[in-house]
Amino acid sequence: MIAITGANGNLGKATIAFLLQKIEPEDIVAIVRNPETVREFKQKGIIVRQADYNDSATLKGAFRGVETVLQISTIGVDTETSKQQEANVVKAMAENNVKHIVYTSMVKAHANTIFQGTQTQYQTEELIAKTNIPYTIFRNSMYMEAIPEFMGNALQTGEIRYPSGNGKVSFVSRNNIAEALANVLAEPTSLSETYEITGSRAYTFAELAQLINAEKKMNVQHIDISDTIFREELIAHQLPVQVADLLVSMAHAIKAGEFSYTDSTLEKLLGRAPLSLSEYVRGL
Ligand SMILES: NC(=O)c1ccc[n+]([C@@H]2O[C@H](COP(=O)([O-])OP(=O)(O)OC[C@H]3O[C@@H](n4cnc5c(N)ncnc54)[C@H](OP(=O)(O)O)[C@@H]3O)[C@@H](O)[C@H]2O)c1
Repeated sequence: MIAITGANGNLGKATIAFLLQKIEPEDIVAIVRNPETVREFKQKGIIVRQADYNDSATLKGAFRGVETVLQISTIGVDTETSKQQEANVVKAMAENNVKHIVYTSMVKAHANTIFQGTQTQYQTEELIAKTNIPYTIFRNSMYMEAIPEFMGNALQTGEIRYPSGNGKVSFVSRNNIAEALANVLAEPTSLSETYEITGSRAYTFAELAQLINAEKKMNVQHIDISDTIFREELIAHQLPVQVADLLVSMAHAIKAGEFSYTDSTLEKLLGRAPLSLSEYVRGL
């Protein structure tokens, strides 16, 4: 059986859709916090189990009889909570003697990244390695599907207000990642691998604006606002301070090049070229 955590999220749902083309629904275990959110899974014959990353007892039961797990990284309210949640998941997988762990981390993860989310995910990579269970780490770059959030109301104002300087991002399609994850999950292996999963080119936000203008006949431009103004604007939009700080750390990280690395692994896993940023923007 193959279990997927965060199964009702965007990446989880997309991965399950690709997996259903390869294996029987009764071999898939969808692990969710609230089973009401995935009634359609049950109707298809997928096994649905309830677990909360904050509750070790539910996690232990969720991985019963499972050989392979896709652990989708969490979004905790703060870094310490996220680290604890992910540690709880790793402990529960080890207690159930799963045979292979596939984990979604962040591109070029290391211990001292500027982006706080990557620090959490690197810690999880280390915990997984310590279990001695074979693993496949997908170190994903920024999702293309996150671009509308970066754009905010740029279509009305003409401005993408974001403090990323000339930092580049190797945007990657979340849907392509899901397909590649399904390919890996369906082919069990005893090897451990770490893959950098990125788009084939990296773009500054000014280049992203140019591309939107060319593809959509728009007139938007990147405004490189200060961190302080960005943080104030986020808090003015009712975001909790911890979330605002996480997003400021992400912008810092982009400016410093933490999301600029490009790699051809995704093309190999898909067996074709991944979606380009132009193709994605055209479809917006
Ligand atoms: N590379 C990128 O650009 C990028 C961008 C955004 C996020 N991410 C990371 O990639 C992951 C997957 O992305 P996504 O788009 O699928 O995110 P998503 O749609 O927000 O899904 C997150 C999933 O995590 C689950 N979850 C959160 N807290 C939980 C808890 N305490 N117990 C059990 N489940 C919990 C959510 O369940 P509920 O529905 O119950 O909340 C949801 O299923 C994210 O969680 C985040 O770590 C990466």
